[in-house]
Amino acid sequence: MIVPVDFTLNGHACHAEVPAHFTALDLLRDGLALSGAKDGCGEGVCGACTVLLDGEPIRGCLVLAARLAGRSLVTIEGLEGEALDPIQEAFARLGAVQCGFCTPGMILSARALLASNPAPSAEEVREALAGNLCRCTGYAKIVEAVLAAGARVD
Ligand code: FES
Ligand code: FES
Repeated sequence: MIVPVDFTLNGHACHAEVPAHFTALDLLRDGLALSGAKDGCGEGVCGACTVLLDGEPIRGCLVLAARLAGRSLVTIEGLEGEALDPIQEAFARLGAVQCGFCTPGMILSARALLASNPAPSAEEVREALAGNLCRCTGYAKIVEAVLAAGARVD
């Protein structure tokens, strides 16, 4: 069965016709050729597929695309602009990226945190990123980057 879905994607109206079993991650990667959200575990464990739905981090692999109707979705591609987003800049500057597979999800989880708590403690950062797994960097530099970005996110 194909279902129509109208939602806002990275600030723009989006209409899609999707198989009913498609997840938001399927829609982004296979339907819309947006590959920023990564397909890691596919079962809600790793956080590589994290995107923001109405400002809150969700796991794109666990939410059906049909559930996006009428809502606002932001992916890492939505942060594109003339300059790097402050969180992206801090990740690059402070060495918080190695393979980069976890990075889009990390950055979007961090963005949601900083939107509600612009000056979090390291403990609060670790808690906010607890659902985002990184197999490369260890977490110290990632936490450092989010703390550094905190004061510069508007
Ligand atoms: S791919 Fe969604 S949580 Fe791992
Ligand atoms: S930088 Fe490779 S998984 Fe995090």
